[in-house]
Amino acid sequence: MASVEYMTTHGHHQHGHDNHNGHSHGAGLAESLTLDALILGTYLEQATALAVELTPTPGVIIDAGSGSGVGTVALAQRFENAHIIALDKSADMLGQTLEAASKNGLTGQVTTVLADLDDAWPEVAAADLIWASSSLHEVADPERSMGEMFAGLNAGGLLMVIEMDGLPCFLSAATLADGTELAALEARLHAALAQMRWNHHPDWRAGLERAGFDVVEQRSYTAVGNSTPDLASRYARMFLERIRTAMDDVATAADLAILDSLLASDGPESLASRTDLQVRGSRTVWAARKP
Ligand SMILES: C[S@@+](CC[C@H](N)C(=O)[O-])C[C@H]1O[C@@H](n2cnc3c(N)ncnc32)[C@H](O)[C@@H]1O
Repeated sequence: MASVEYMTTHGHHQHGHDNHNGHSHGAGLAESLTLDALILGTYLEQATALAVELTPTPGVIIDAGSGSGVGTVALAQRFENAHIIALDKSADMLGQTLEAASKNGLTGQVTTVLADLDDAWPEVAAADLIWASSSLHEVADPERSMGEMFAGLNAGGLLMVIEMDGLPCFLSAATLADGTELAALEARLHAALAQMRWNHHPDWRAGLERAGFDVVEQRSYTAVGNSTPDLASRYARMFLERIRTAMDDVATAADLAILDSLLASDGPESLASRTDLQVRGSRTVWAARKP
């Protein structure tokens, strides 16, 4: 059995609150993260292979902001002799991480810690590898958190920061009867979300160096999902439904009407009927060594 440790540094627990970027944490986000890994998860293989090259035998790995646990599982599978501490401010997410570990027969390798990275670094074992995937841009002061991660690593330890280069894309270049190209509509929606700082992050290299790290690798991985149409359709629906909740005062009435027709349960334009969905995404990893 994994030991489950619940910890906050200020004694408060957070459940399903919106973060400062306006993304809500809940079952929808967790399912979205898991679908993303199923469909676009080649980056998990590539980035954990890079981790093996750079730190072959880590004893303790911390997955900082573990979400639904896709990174925790990939790390535990890649590093069979390591112990993975999954850290998140959401108890729901940690529950999902433990469930994912259990489904993959990895329970004995995984411990969860409920902690807010905006508070002081939790009292956990010093790590040989810290993995922060799509989480650093969510904390209030990323440079402060990088400093805490630096202190939380053993000398020679590695921090791997991973971010999506943009939001995942689903729609094709198909043109609707009114002349709207779906991929162009998707690009307009993403541009509006970028204005709202969704997935907002800089190139982390300079910040990592200011925190004392040597950035030893920076790689980008592009993925085109080759999942079943059903999975692609589920992920597209989950993601576009999340986008829709943010779009009311932002998108034009015409774009909103198309988005609604995509999200309708049936109809020729609905996601359920489409055969042209193709999930695409790309991520960058920064691998930074503590001297
Ligand atoms: C977008 S998800 C990414 C999850 C996972 N790493 C992945 O790549 O699928 C970001 C996760 O970071 C967590 N998170 C955000 N801010 C945090 C903070 N201040 N302290 C701890 N966890 C945080 C969220 O609860 C969420 O589970």
